[in-house]
Parts: sequence; C-alpha cells; structure tokens
Amino acid sequence: MSTKKPVILSDILPGVVSGINDIKATYGEWDVHESQHADPARVAEVLSELTERLDNNFPFFHPQYAGQMLKPPHPVAMAAYTATMMINPNNHSIDGGKATTLMEREVLDQLVAMFGYSEKYLGHLTWSGTTANLEALWVGREVNPGKAIAHSKDSHYTHSRMGEVLNVPTISIATEADGRMSLDALEVELKTGRIGTVVVTLGTTGLGAVDPLADIIPLARQYGARVHVDTAYGGFFSLIPDELSPETARHYAAIAHSDSVVVDPHKHGLQPYGCGAVLFNDQSIIEYYKHDSPYTYFASTDRHFGEIQLECSRAGASAAALWATLKVFPLTRDGLGAIIAPGRRAARLWHELISESDVLQPYQQPELDIITYLPRVESMSALDHVSHAIFEMAADTTRPQQTHLATYVVTPDQLAARGMELERDAPSGRIMRSVLMKPEHEVLIPEMHHHVSMWSRRAMERYGF
Ligand SMILES: Cc1ncc(COP(=O)(O)O)c(C=O)c1O
Repeated sequence: MSTKKPVILSDILPGVVSGINDIKATYGEWDVHESQHADPARVAEVLSELTERLDNNFPFFHPQYAGQMLKPPHPVAMAAYTATMMINPNNHSIDGGKATTLMEREVLDQLVAMFGYSEKYLGHLTWSGTTANLEALWVGREVNPGKAIAHSKDSHYTHSRMGEVLNVPTISIATEADGRMSLDALEVELKTGRIGTVVVTLGTTGLGAVDPLADIIPLARQYGARVHVDTAYGGFFSLIPDELSPETARHYAAIAHSDSVVVDPHKHGLQPYGCGAVLFNDQSIIEYYKHDSPYTYFASTDRHFGEIQLECSRAGASAAALWATLKVFPLTRDGLGAIIAPGRRAARLWHELISESDVLQPYQQPELDIITYLPRVESMSALDHVSHAIFEMAADTTRPQQTHLATYVVTPDQLAARGMELERDAPSGRIMRSVLMKPEHEVLIPEMHHHVSMWSRRAMERYGF
C-alpha cells in the first residue's frame, strides 16, 4: 500500500523554519536592531492587505486555470526555498553559498543525465530562460564571431531581442504548417555561410511545436554552425518519450548531440520563478568566461558558479528548492515524468473532443501539452470577436464555474496552411490556446470541453455568427 499523500505547505513549513532557527541559535543569541523592529499590528495589517490584493489574480493554482504557462511550485519547493532564504545564500560563489553550490552541482548532474549530455559539461542554473538563452547565444557569438543566429519564426521573441543586445544579426526561418522550423528554408540560409548558431526550439511557446532537431543537427554541422536547443518550456518532456509521437521523441533524443540547451525548472519543474538552466555539452567554451574578481572567490579553489556564468548574484534558495524537489520527484519516468505525462494525455484527449465538435475545431495537432483551437466561424473578424468573447465569458461566472483560457493570434495564411479558409476581412484574428500543465487537468477535460463548447455556442449567438 502506498504511503504517499498530498503535501500540505502549512504542515511542512514549521519544521524547516524551526530547523533553520536551530542552526542560527548555535551561533549564540543576538538582538535584532531596533531599526528593524515593527509594530505587530502594522505588520498584520500589511500582510492582510497583501493577501487581499493577491486575490486580484487569475487562479493559477486551480486546474480550471488552463491558460498560460503558469502554476504554483510544489510545496516541497516552497518549504525548501523558504528555509534556505532564511540564510539567503548566493550561488555566485562558494563563499556566498557553500551548501547550495553543492546542491546545484547535484541537480545539474541530473539535468545533464536527462538530456544525455557529456559528463564533461559546463552549466548552471539561471534566473530565467531568457538569461539562460542569452548566455548560450553569447557563447555562440564568441565561438563563431561575425556570424548570425537563425531561429524559427515561431521561436520565443527573446532570440531576436538578445541578438540586438549581443549585436548579432538574427534571421527568422519560416515554419511548416505544423509550426516546426522548415528544414529547406534553414538550409537556404546555412548555404550562405553566414549562420553561426541555429536555435532549435523543442516546444514553441505558442503552439508547443517541436523543431526537427534530429535533422537540423547534421545539416548545421555540414555548414559549421552551432546548435542551441531552447527547451525552456518543453525540456522535461524528455522524461516521457512513450507519451510523445515517435517523430517528436526522435527529436528529443537528439538533444544529447546539441551544443547547448536551456530548460526552465520554473515552468514544468515545479519551481518558483527565478529558476532556469543552461548547459553546454563541452567544457572548452570556458575560455570565454575569463574575468577578474578580486573581491570574491576566496573560500575555495574549486570552481565557483560566478566564474562560469554571466549573472553575478543568484539565489542559492533556487538550487535548494530544485534539489529538494528532485529528491522527492527524481528526473525519471516515474518521478517528475509521472507529473508531466497527464498534461500530455489531457492535450491529446481535448484535441480529440474538439475534432468531433460542431462548434469548435482544432488549429493543429498538439505535440506536447499546449492545445490550440477555434470556433467554427467564417471570417477573420468573427474569429477574433468570438475567441475573445469565449475567453471573457468562460471566466465571467461564479468562481467554481470559471474556466480560464488564453488566446493566440494567427493570420489567414496560417489558417489556410492548416486547411481552414476564412474570409479575409481582417489581417489577423485570435484563436484559443490552453497550456494543460497541471496533472489534474487530465480528469477535468470532459467537463472543461463541455463548458468551453457551451460558452462558444453562446458567444457565437451573441454576435450573430
Ligand atoms: C521556448 C521559450 N524560450 C524562452 C522563454 C523565456 O523564458 P523566461 O520566461 O523564463 O525568461 C520561454 C517562456 O515562455 C519559452 O517558452
């Protein structure tokens, strides 16, 4: 019989807080300076105002929130983060965070094993996917100076923006009808000899599409370009190849042969914001990180994270939270994989229900846990109106009845490429998009489909479509 049960933050928090207080007590008591005293009534008032103000949010924690890539961290991560924050180590250096530097090395080894990278990797956690990608693109610039970055038209906007920051030209590569980078269009650019780094997205932010990495790697190698994988959102799907199509799984398996990879534990890794990661498959790039820092790095001759990262200060609490979470849910099919898989199944199930619907139709087949769909209307302007109305109406009811969705902007050409010809009375229109990243979504799908279909019908009636 399983001994597992729900983990409740208020049950586990007192234990870790008093554990840290015990550590502090071993150094002897001290008086907190008067300047930091506060009136308990004022503190209570402010914190009460805080909780009231936090009610002004969509309910990201609830399975009926099926909009953007948002969900709260696991209570284990929250407890570990809070406990560590009471000491507030800084993983910039071993001087700043001895214990948490060791924890970070352990979690990096696990991420490296998940992606099949070389044991001689270089990498670290970051504050975000954006800073992690920036670093990989910066290394790309140093390895192939004077050359451009190629990324798909559907890749995250960070790549073109970071190209501007790094003063490296970026080239947007067309996508196929399924949202994956076009190999033919990429080869045209590679042939010019001007591409230094190809960014391959496994799990695009909008559609969850998986670029054909296994085919891009040999192509890029042929033309001397680096391959950087942005799997900030999709990385942890590496754990569940059995739930992916064989073609998608083939591209995940190819991550092992890329030059660098980014993954965000603060998306599918159950972590609070402030936890990304970048890994390089080869340590030779360390030469680009050389810098002088006479005021740090004195407690150990071991390598400090600050010596191999662009950022300086970084929360040791992030490393501790991820470390604790992965001890409970390791990076295996039965560990974190068992939390990722239901969302993937939810996406497949909802896609099937939408395919059979008389009011809704799929935009495209989901590859991961993002689904996109649209009301069955005839013009672009009707599409935009009705989609926005569904978004609003589904959330505009009593709290237990609400469904929270997101929208995504498409053009008539993109619809036509997927076999949907709409009257072109507007240059673009919104469709519906849902990220099904909570395992609880799986059982809720039939009910959510019922609600969304009902709101779609009502929205179409309201606007006379
Ligand atoms: C594919 C991809 N890359 C990069 C990012 C940016 O990551 P972050 O929001 O952690 O900075 C995102 C965020 O959604 C993403 O989906």
